This record gives sequence, structure tokens and C-alpha cells, in this order.
Amino acid sequence: MDLKTALAETIAKAAGMEAPQVAGLLETPPDPKMGDAALPCFKLAKELRKAPPVIAQELAGKLEAPAFVTRTEAAGGYLNFFYDRNFYAESVLSALEEAGEDWGRSDAGAGKTVVIDYSSVNIAKPFHIGHLSSTAIGSALYKIYKYLGYDVVGVNHLGDWGTQFGKLIAAYKLWGNDEEIDRDSVSAMLKLYVRFHEEAEKDESLNEQGRAWFKKIEEGDEEALRIFEWFKELTLREAKRVYERLDVQFDSYAGESFYNDKIPAVLDELREKNLLVQSEGAWVVRLDEEGLPPAIILKSDGTTLYATRDLAAAEYRKKTYDFYKNLYVVAYQQNLHFKQLFAVLKKMGHEWAEQCEHVAFGMVSLEDGTLSTRKGKIVLLEDVLTKAVEKTRAVIEEKNPGLANKEQVAEEIGVGAVIFSTLSQSRIKDITFSFDRVLNYDGETGPYVQYTHTRCASVLARCAELTGEPDMDALTDDDAFAVLKLLASFPQALAAASEKNEPFYVTRYLLDLAQAFNKYYYEHRIIDGSAEQTIARAALVRGVKNTLKTGLALLGIKAPDKM
Ligand code: ARG
Repeated sequence: MDLKTALAETIAKAAGMEAPQVAGLLETPPDPKMGDAALPCFKLAKELRKAPPVIAQELAGKLEAPAFVTRTEAAGGYLNFFYDRNFYAESVLSALEEAGEDWGRSDAGAGKTVVIDYSSVNIAKPFHIGHLSSTAIGSALYKIYKYLGYDVVGVNHLGDWGTQFGKLIAAYKLWGNDEEIDRDSVSAMLKLYVRFHEEAEKDESLNEQGRAWFKKIEEGDEEALRIFEWFKELTLREAKRVYERLDVQFDSYAGESFYNDKIPAVLDELREKNLLVQSEGAWVVRLDEEGLPPAIILKSDGTTLYATRDLAAAEYRKKTYDFYKNLYVVAYQQNLHFKQLFAVLKKMGHEWAEQCEHVAFGMVSLEDGTLSTRKGKIVLLEDVLTKAVEKTRAVIEEKNPGLANKEQVAEEIGVGAVIFSTLSQSRIKDITFSFDRVLNYDGETGPYVQYTHTRCASVLARCAELTGEPDMDALTDDDAFAVLKLLASFPQALAAASEKNEPFYVTRYLLDLAQAFNKYYYEHRIIDGSAEQTIARAALVRGVKNTLKTGLALLGIKAPDKM
């Protein structure tokens, strides 16, 4: 049992409350002078019907604090607890030693399934830097939920349906060159697509051909499907190269087209529930009560939309996975789409609409100007990764030219820096990406955290030979105590990240831990004094190393031992 839980139990007993409720209220004061744990009594005022200072006073008198609490102090509306530092070090480090690289792992999510829709790239379209956030946030959530014991289903909801694919096939039939497409894949498809639009402006009949090919896809025509499948395969081959570099996995690639045959049932259901009405030729679900524009379900020509397929997809996911949460990691530009989607599901009487969530994020742009897909000024994600790795290689040549497996380390740092920067602020904020900033070893960056990890590794290598019992008195100074408290709070950071679907809590945590450790490292000699003292400090360093490594891995980032 951890200290907070033990403390919460004694408080609960004195206050006549439930321990988990109290545990949820306990805070860690920002300034250690205010104690190592604090109970904000104003949060109990309503239930106990007393003023917060009175509650604090009474509890301080009544409470039989656990042995590791050396002092209990009522301060205004707070009840502050001071820990015995020797005992604290001992208990935190023994929990960490036992967990090793599994610190913070839990079974809190056992029996619950979380579906995460992320990355969700479009066929025949470039995998550009705009997909970075969805991919990095979704993948981090995927790993974090798994670590917390949830069953997780990662879905790449491919954009593989729409009239544009008819045009693409028409263009391919007219001007396509198999060799070129095989070699250049998406960029060759893009070229065909652009040419189609240019020529269609002069020759209207091309659009007719495009429509005809789309109809063939819809009808399952063998040739149309074969070509389309081939385009899909090539697009995915390119995407998977990036996924591999980013350590991203999926359990399902069921894209939009997968839901085509599931749509009639959804339409029946909507009709049965009297939700489908005709409006200007189209079929819509009115959402006036929700204060939203109507959701268009069928266009006047009877074709379905992105939203229709998402409706079918949501029902399918509920039926197939019986999810506890169903998350969509998609840019905030699609806010309205998801509001409408969830509102329609609710109108259909699906209570589980409450368990669906749009995990929205802001835009990523490069420092040298925003992106425009239309003008062809596309920044490919793969190129960003490659450039980050190249720049890292140059840094390594300068700082540590003798390093072994430079290539691999450069890849781990360069790619890690890109991921880390994407996750280092609250996801809803827009990001302006700068190579120099994200690669700075001294900034609030991935490389800084990785560097701290290598620092731990090299300290540990130097005290590997020592034997004896740790002397915890070597860890009672303020700096060591600050590191210990952070180590103990890793599970809370993971819980916050999963509750709010914000990997940023983990990034922030890693920066805090790295900073606290570096302060400790600069102000204290680790390999000093008796073997027992050094062993105790080494245990602290090992705890930091393992926790940094685990935290980075949850974000999809490697932690090399040397860099
Ligand atoms: N392919 C879409 C896009 O690039 C994202 C799909 C998100 N997932 C979903 N179920 N709508 O905008």
C-alpha cells in the first residue's frame, strides 16, 4: 500500500468518511514547507457541515496518524502532514525496485475496452505533418491505456471512400504508368489527380468518366476494385514505414468503405425512430433542440456521406467491442462533425453516446509558413522525421563523435524529438514546429529527457560493483526528497493522462522529473561517502532511469543508454 492510501485511511477513520474519497482529496503542496501531503478541508465542509479551519483543528486532534507521519499541522483550512523522510525514501524506493521498468503499471482498466480512432489517413493522399498529432496523441493514449490494464483497440479509420477515387481511376486508365506508380506511389497518384482536374476543366466528359468509375467501385466491379485495392496497398505501404519509425500499432484498418454494407441497417433504424426527414432533397436528422445544424445522412442523389459512415462505424464499434470509451483523435476542425454525430446517436436512444469522445487537437505548422495541401506545398511527415534525424546526426558528430551505433541513436533522438514536441503542450493548442527548438538538448525537449536518462545510465555503470544495505539517511535532503516525491507520483500522471486523454501529462511529468533529477545531480555527489550511502543514492538514480524510460516508451520514444 502506498503512503497516501495509508494516510487517507487514518483520516477517513477520524472523519467518519470513506478512504477512497479522502484519497482523492489529498494534495501534494507545491511548497514542502506546507507539508508533504495536505487535506484541503473546505472540500469536506459541506458534508461535515463545519467551517474548514474547524474541521482541520478537530481532525488534527483526533487523528491517529501512521508512523511515517512525523508531524500533523492544522493551517487555516488545510491539514498538513510531514513525512519521515528516511521512511519515505525506503518505501518509495522499495516499491520502485520491485516494479523495475513496470512502475505505474496497473490493472485499473481490467475488463474495460477503449477504442481509439487515430491517424486515420486518406488513401492516395500524402501522409503529411498534419497527421502527426493524431498519430502521436492516439498512439500515446493507446500505450497508456494498455499500461493501465485496459483492452485497447487501435483503429485506423482509413479515408477510402468517395467520388474522388472514381476520378483517380479514370485518370489512371487514361495516363497511368504502372512502373511509376509502383515506384512513387502516392506522389504519382497525386500527379494523376492534379492532371485530371486540369484536363477536366477543358473537357467536361472526363467528370462523366470519373462518375462512371466510382459507380463501378460501388457496384463491386472487379477491375475497379483491383485498381483501387492496389492504390490502397501502396498508400498503406508508405504510411506503415512512418508507423514503424514512430512505434505506432493498429488492431484494425477498417476504413470508411468497410461500413458501406452496414449503412442500410442504420438508415432503417433512423426511419423506424422517425428521425429521418427530407430537406431540400436530402435526408437529414434535425438537431434544432441541440442547437446544431441538421446532420445530412443522404445526399439528394442518394449517396452517403462521411457522417453516415461514421454513424455506422460507431454502432459497429459498440456491437463488436462493447467499449467503455470510444475515442476519436481528430483535429478540432471537425468539432461540428463529432457534435452532430454524438447528438444523432443520442437521439437514436444510444446511451453509450456519452462514452464517445472527440479528442480534439490544434494545428501543426512549420516555422517557415503554414501548410497548404492545395498549392502542392505539402510537408511530408516522413521528410520531417528524416530531417530531424539528419540534424541529430550532425549534433552527435559534434558532441560525441566516438559514439557507437550513431545511426540508430540519431534515429531514436530525432524521431523522439518530433513526437515529444507534439505532445508537450495541451493538445488543443496550435503548434509551430521548429527543428532547432525541438532538438535542443537543454530545452524542454525529448532529447533533454533522453539525455537525463543517459546520465542516469552512466552513473549506474559506475556504481554497479558496490554491495551492502542502502543507508536511506543519504536521501533525506530536500533535493532527493523532491525527486522521490515525483517518482511516487508517476501513477497519478498516468491516471490524469488517461482521464483527460492528454498525453501531455506524461510529457510534463517527464520534464519535471528530469529537471528535479538534474538539480539533484548538480548539487550532490552521488558516488561519495560510504558504500551504503552510494547504494541508496544509486537506487534513487535507478528509479529515475526506469521511470524516464517507461514514460518515454509510453509516448513511443526510445531511451538510449548513450547519446
Ligand atoms: N480521414 C479523416 C481525415 O483525414 C479522419 C477520420 C477520423 N475518424 C473518423 N472516424 N471520422 O480528416
